[in-house]
Amino acid sequence: MLASLTLKSIKPSLFYSSIQHSKRTMSTTMKAIVVEEYGGLDKLLYKDFAKPTAEKDTVVVKNHSIGINMIDTYHRSGLYPLPLPFIMGRDAAGEIVEVGEGVTNFKVGDRVVHMGGSGYAEFSQTKAVMAVKIPDEITYDVATAAALQGLTALTLVRDSYAVKKDDYILVHAAAGGVGLILCQLGKHLGKRAKEIKLGAHVIGTASTDAKCELAKANGAEFTINSSTEDIAKRVSEITGGLGVHASLDGVGKSTFDSSMASIRRLGTMVSFGNASGPVPPINISVLAQKNIKLMRPTLYNYLATPEEAKRWFDELFALIKEGALKFHIHKVYDLKDAQQAQSDLQARLTTGKLLLRP
Ligand SMILES: NC(=O)c1ccc[n+]([C@@H]2O[C@H](COP(=O)([O-])OP(=O)(O)OC[C@H]3O[C@@H](n4cnc5c(N)ncnc54)[C@H](OP(=O)(O)O)[C@@H]3O)[C@@H](O)[C@H]2O)c1
Repeated sequence: MLASLTLKSIKPSLFYSSIQHSKRTMSTTMKAIVVEEYGGLDKLLYKDFAKPTAEKDTVVVKNHSIGINMIDTYHRSGLYPLPLPFIMGRDAAGEIVEVGEGVTNFKVGDRVVHMGGSGYAEFSQTKAVMAVKIPDEITYDVATAAALQGLTALTLVRDSYAVKKDDYILVHAAAGGVGLILCQLGKHLGKRAKEIKLGAHVIGTASTDAKCELAKANGAEFTINSSTEDIAKRVSEITGGLGVHASLDGVGKSTFDSSMASIRRLGTMVSFGNASGPVPPINISVLAQKNIKLMRPTLYNYLATPEEAKRWFDELFALIKEGALKFHIHKVYDLKDAQQAQSDLQARLTTGKLLLRP
């Protein structure tokens, strides 16, 4: 069940050790990005490995599109440790080439997106419960761009802080992968594109004017250049001194204080990431200054049962099919260039989603 598959407990390389020692032939090997020890970009190793085979309750997917996420850098550095060695990656999309015993809901040839790990590879073995069929009208690249970042954004605005009409919402890194989707979702809270006028007021922060423009094009009503402007001061001006109803903060360490200063009385702080480093421990009495609610969600806890996962994926796919959500692909890198891709992401040179092509 998904319940047991938290970010930390997923073992992306179930087949790894047997692979290392197995005799390889051309037909049984594949390329993958492997981490054998935690560290910097040089720990992303592009290597030959045996193709995985389907085991009980798993499927093997031939990946056509592989997602890059900030969390990958935490797995590489050991901030979120996975058992070593492991194949890097969270989400990828492709076609099922093998179905394991006990799997009844998939067949060979099905187009799926999966979030069970081991994504940075030509083939991934994934638990069947971590895969979902992709509607015909959605491409592999869109499905990959939508999966982890789209579901994160959706669960943030629906549950972590249920955004209401006319709320003021602060979105940090608004031109990033999750950020651009938050801008779009914040603008239209309804499930349907025609309800687009029913939205909140999104205030997006980003480090360059070009990123601010992109956030605006995706639904941010106001933007703040975090390199040149005082975030809390600008938020106060925009909101008539009241502050925002909620801050959706995936940047972490460097923005926690400006988020707290920007939130209105009875507002909500949603801290959901560590792009600039983890938020240091806080004294909870700081919440009392404005009766602030503090939430620290992680996506996989919203996908703990197949029913929950289906509910969120159904909503996400419906939004895409209606044209209510667009995905900005920064660049598609070759699988072998994963180091460059993660380097660009960490250097804040990217916008939207980064993909790898096997
Ligand atoms: N809780 C969950 O379940 C969950 C799920 C998915 C993602 N997340 C989190 O959401 C956040 C966004 O993820 P993403 O994959 O969409 O990444 P992203 O937003 O595309 O990239 C990170 C962005 O953070 C900003 N940033 C600020 N300080 C930074 C620093 N010191 N180093 C690097 N970036 C910095 C940069 O934007 P500017 O240059 O505009 O500042 C950068 O582009 C991450 O913290 C990630 O861990 C959490």
